[in-house]
Parts: sequence; C-alpha cells; structure tokens
Amino acid sequence: MDLSNRRGIITGAGQGIGQALALEFAARGAHLLLVGRREETLTETAALVQAAGGSAEILVQDLSMPGAVDRVVEAVVAWDAVDLLINNAGNVRAGRLELSSEVDVRSMIDLNLTAPLLLTRALLPQLRAGGTARDSIVLNISSGIALVGMPFYAVYAATKAGLARFGESLRRELHGTGVHVATVYPGATDTAMMSTQNAGADQGWERRTVEAVIKDLMAGLLAGDHEINTAPESRRSMQRLNVEDPMAVDAALAPGLDALEASVRDHRSI
Ligand SMILES: NC(=O)c1ccc[n+]([C@@H]2O[C@H](COP(=O)([O-])OP(=O)(O)OC[C@H]3O[C@@H](n4cnc5c(N)ncnc54)[C@H](OP(=O)(O)O)[C@@H]3O)[C@@H](O)[C@H]2O)c1
Repeated sequence: MDLSNRRGIITGAGQGIGQALALEFAARGAHLLLVGRREETLTETAALVQAAGGSAEILVQDLSMPGAVDRVVEAVVAWDAVDLLINNAGNVRAGRLELSSEVDVRSMIDLNLTAPLLLTRALLPQLRAGGTARDSIVLNISSGIALVGMPFYAVYAATKAGLARFGESLRRELHGTGVHVATVYPGATDTAMMSTQNAGADQGWERRTVEAVIKDLMAGLLAGDHEINTAPESRRSMQRLNVEDPMAVDAALAPGLDALEASVRDHRSI
C-alpha cells in the first residue's frame, strides 16, 4: 500500500493514537484535516505535522453532536482529492451496566459508532473519486475488546464490535471500487484514555506504548492488511481461546471479577 502524499481526515488527532497517526502520515507528505473538540491540542498536532513534513488544517467539532459530520465534509469539499479517512476519535466509560448513566451510554454510541458510520457514508463519493490511481483508505480504530468482550465494558465493547463489523461489511460492499477498508484492534495502549484505568498486567491488561502500537499498525497498513491486531501476545492467546472455547474465557475471568470491577471503576474519558 502506497501511503505517501495522502490527503485526508483524522478524527481525534489532538493526542494519543490519532496524533501519532497524523505524524506518520505527515512524514510521508500528507495534507490533513485534524478534527477534535480542543483547539489547543489540534493546533499542537498541526505544528508537529508541519515539522514532520506534512501540512494540516484543523476543525474544532464535537463529533457526537448532530451536524458535526456535515461540517467535516464542508471543510474538505473544495479539496482536489480525499484519499484517507481515519475514524479514530473514541471515548470510554467502564463499570457495571446497571450503574452506567444513559448519558454515558449514548455518548459512547454517538462517538464510537454513529459518527464514523455517518462520516464514512458522507465521504464515500470523494473517497471513491480519490481512489482511481491507487486505493483510498478508510481506517477504523476499533479495539481488542471487539474480539473478546470484557466484563464492565459491555457498552464500549458493543460500539467497537459494531465498528469492526461495519468495516467488514463495507469492505465487501466496496470490493473493486478503489477504497481499502481496514480495521485496527489495539489492545490496552498507554494514552490519556487509560489514565483513569488501574487494571495491571497481572489482571490481563498489559499495556503497550503508543510507539509500539503505531509501528505494528503502520506495518499492517503498508502490507495492505484489512485486519490489524496490535494486541500483546498475552491478550492474543485469550482472543484465540474466545473463538475455540468461549466458556473457558468466562471461567478464567470469573475469579478476578471483583478485583477488575474495582480497578476499572473510575475509567472514564468522556
Ligand atoms: N488507549 C487504548 O488502550 C485503546 C485501546 C483500544 C482502542 N483504542 C481506541 O483508539 C482510539 C484513540 O484512543 P486514544 O487512546 O488515543 O484516546 P485519547 O488519548 O483519549 O484520545 C481521544 C481523541 O479523541 C478526541 N475526542 C474525544 N471525544 C471527542 C468528540 N466528542 N468529538 C471529537 N473528538 C473527540 C480527543 O480530543 P478532544 O478531547 O479534544 O475532543 C482525543 O484527541 C479510540 O477510538 C479508542 O477507543 C484505544
């Protein structure tokens, strides 16, 4: 896959995985629209993009709000071409389902699922037009939790599994149209999103650095992969077991449920 000189959109580009991806594409000569809620972090990423060899515009939008997707599309309508869309912005609230607020449930669905679906839908004409000489790219950042649903993350897991199946369906629907749809499944990654989560490697939540995750992600994308799993080996063995014998995963998790609930009680990035 040729990743040079891409022109496209990265949501949630002000920090974490989104910022790191912006810098990877910047180093390959990209022109990017960086989207998020906070102007200062987007401005910071735009400066880093420039320093890395790319160029960027910023758009301050809360993607969980009605009309936000239209404003993203308006921002790129005059571009010569769009051949990259990275649906990265996401949020999480952990905890026992019956203790979750409706506001938090809706916020995760709106940002993690509805926004990427609507944004992809709205940009497809431009992505298809941009994918004639080489494939355009839609890159959806799902999560390892889409492959193994973890207790106390039922809503987040639903949104991330939904995003993964959305990508799979769309990939098949767009076969031969010049749009490459890829899904990334990061395991726990050391970003601000995880700063309020206290589950450690001893509880099965080994964290990887952003650098390590991005290295695997970019290698998968360069190789033309559609499914890119950046989870550590410890979590991959659980993913395999979940396919072969899901009840064995239930049994393995059961003794640690109370400890896990305590460790993720404050996990919230909304
Ligand atoms: N870190 C992990 O362990 C992990 C594991 C698996 C999957 N992921 C997924 O990877 C993606 C990136 O995660 P991360 O760890 O880099 O998270 P992060 O550090 O919390 O960054 C999230 C980004 O999304 C933006 N954002 C949040 N709410 C938004 C909204 N309503 N509208 C527009 N932008 C919004 C944030 O900027 P503003 O606050 O300025 O809006 C921020 O730039 C997410 O989809 C996440 O679910 C992360």
